[in-house]
Amino acid sequence: MADTAHRVEPSGVWATAVGVARVRAMETARERPLFRDPLALAFATAGGRDPAAPSPPHADEAARRRWLGVAFSIVIRTKFLDDLLDRAVASGVRQVVLLGAGMDSRAFRMDWPARTRLFEVDTAEPLAFKAAVLRQERATPRCERITVPVDLREDWPGALAAAGHDPARPTVWIAEGLLIYLPEDAVRSLLERVGALSAAGSRMGLTLGTRGVLERFREDAAAGSPASMWVSETPQDPVGWLDTLGWDAQTFTLRERAAAYGRPMLTPPRQDEGAGGLVSAVRAAP
Ligand SMILES: C[S@@+](CC[C@H](N)C(=O)[O-])C[C@H]1O[C@@H](n2cnc3c(N)ncnc32)[C@H](O)[C@@H]1O
Repeated sequence: MADTAHRVEPSGVWATAVGVARVRAMETARERPLFRDPLALAFATAGGRDPAAPSPPHADEAARRRWLGVAFSIVIRTKFLDDLLDRAVASGVRQVVLLGAGMDSRAFRMDWPARTRLFEVDTAEPLAFKAAVLRQERATPRCERITVPVDLREDWPGALAAAGHDPARPTVWIAEGLLIYLPEDAVRSLLERVGALSAAGSRMGLTLGTRGVLERFREDAAAGSPASMWVSETPQDPVGWLDTLGWDAQTFTLRERAAAYGRPMLTPPRQDEGAGGLVSAVRAAP
């Protein structure tokens, strides 16, 4: 029987995951990419976002530049979190939780030590779409991969526990491109729950909407566009804020990481370009 489940039209917030895959497919096709994501093309194409097809036109040149900036940020953050995960497993962590996993294919494309368990948490629809594409591609994970279909506004800790997550062992948590879609109080309560499940030695990688992003993108926010769903950005003092949640955090700006990766940003820094939206954190001693 033909496998047609992945032909479901991506919609709502999870459609953004297909847009992210499109960007990763384009990076993978570059000379000297910052990462290779061989499954990204299949996710993007199945979701109607074939990188070879022209994108819908932007309202004006400023809007086009803003969206190039978003694509650039996706590339830099992917590399940032790949490196963070490498360091976490080098420190001995063997549990990985991808919150709002979308079309993240790290289970398939990264090197994992034996006995690594990787949980992908997202709502049921994107996980079903992803499963169909993975079947079509005959993709094999390089670690134990467990999908957890649940809404992060519901009892996801219960679903994660039922899926086999062990809170007594350290975990590396990734929330990539997720928190910007959650209101500030929901971000805080999500991170409180993450903290409660984080044994000593746990780590966390987050991306936060850079300060001022909601304001800058307001005019591009056509109904249904990713920007129309963005609701939160980096707090004034992200390190202090994460300290109150029990994490020793370091923040990085896109500009600084891009330069470190040999992809310097060519645009001059904005005046409001302050606190970094890329976060690397280690669970503080109790
Ligand atoms: C921009 S995508 C990023 C996907 C992935 N982290 C990546 O970087 O490839 C945002 C993801 O967050 C998920 N998401 C947003 N709100 C969610 C919620 N309340 N519960 C579960 N997943 C959610 C969406 O379904 C989508 O897959």
